[in-house]
Amino acid sequence: MDLTKRAEPERDVLVSARGLEVHFPIRGSGFRRRPIGAVRAVDGVDLDVYRGETLGLVGESGCGKSTLGNALLRLVPPTGGRVTFDGIDVTALDRRRLRELRRRAGMVFQDPFASLDPRRTVAQTVSEPLEVHGLAGDRRERAARVGELLELVGLDPAVAGRYPHEFSGGQRQRVGIARALAGEPDFLVCDEAIASLDVSVQAQVLNLLRRLQRQLGLTLLFVSHDLSAVRHISDRIAVMYLGRIVEVGPAAAVAGDPQMPYTRALLSAVPVPHPELERSRQRVVLGGDVPSPAAVPSGCRFRTRCPDVFEPCPDVDPALQPVGSAPGHLAACHLHGVVGTPVAAEADGAADRPPRAATGSAAR
Ligand SMILES: Nc1ncnc2c1ncn2[C@@H]1O[C@H](COP(=O)(O)OP(=O)(O)OP(=O)(O)O)[C@@H](O)[C@H]1O
Ligand SMILES: [Mg+2]
Repeated sequence: MDLTKRAEPERDVLVSARGLEVHFPIRGSGFRRRPIGAVRAVDGVDLDVYRGETLGLVGESGCGKSTLGNALLRLVPPTGGRVTFDGIDVTALDRRRLRELRRRAGMVFQDPFASLDPRRTVAQTVSEPLEVHGLAGDRRERAARVGELLELVGLDPAVAGRYPHEFSGGQRQRVGIARALAGEPDFLVCDEAIASLDVSVQAQVLNLLRRLQRQLGLTLLFVSHDLSAVRHISDRIAVMYLGRIVEVGPAAAVAGDPQMPYTRALLSAVPVPHPELERSRQRVVLGGDVPSPAAVPSGCRFRTRCPDVFEPCPDVDPALQPVGSAPGHLAACHLHGVVGTPVAAEADGAADRPPRAATGSAAR
């Protein structure tokens, strides 16, 4: 049963993951370096990104956000499950189609310092995708297009001849965004795109992304551990924990009426910009660190830190199910009814199998 579909049948899906897994092998030290386990960075993700929306992806460090974003763009190969882009299976593309995917789906990186080549001018950086994809004919056309792109991201086209070191962090990130837009993509993954910027500049870049998304009809996956930024920019929010989406829905519902204890804990860590409210608000403090993705707890993977843990949690791996009152609001939590895959079924012989098969049908 596909609950995602049942809850919101009308939406136009651009990018979709089903049972997506990215497991990194942990190799032994012996001669053959056989796999002795796996880091389950992405571990059975079902997620739809709707055309024209900004979907925020949040979760603590190491929970698999970047790996998921990379797998959606096929920058890392999945070890299981499927990703489709505009209906096309991206795990099975020939070279021509892969190049077309690279044009239509791109990435805005975290660190504008590291992601720009210091020896190339802004014009060279921004026009590179135009050349790779054969999009702007001669030199004059390319220069004109670079100028348009710079204006689009709020830079003076006159800076085209300058080098990255001549810019501030915020300006560099604008150059990175201009480059990402050069191929006229439909889909952008912004992975911690504002995390390395000064706080005063973060809001400007956030507003720029919001404006571009609306103006160009882009679909954005905004990956961040900063829940207040995510709340500000997103139409919907997906919450990730240890390789799995544990709550997803309209931003107002997930941020205003969270249904999974993990989401509540993440939200309670966000300061409220009002001294009295800030003093009186309830805080959910999570015990301990995130368990290792190489040793995911049985059943509900959040149970070792959950303040509301009860009997079924170690025994049944919870599936996403409709929660709250907003359509499309889903959470994987037994507090809303025990729905999921019993551990006995899941673990049947799992210890002897290669890592990839261990969680094959969980929650689907
Ligand atoms: N190439 C790799 N080989 C082995 N393990 C990896 C690799 N890439 C990521 N991991 C591991 O996978 C897990 C998820 O990492 P990922 O970078 O996706 O998390 P994240 O949510 O983006 O974290 P952050 O908020 O710190 O950016 C981590 O345990 C990480 O160490
Ligand atoms: Mg990351």
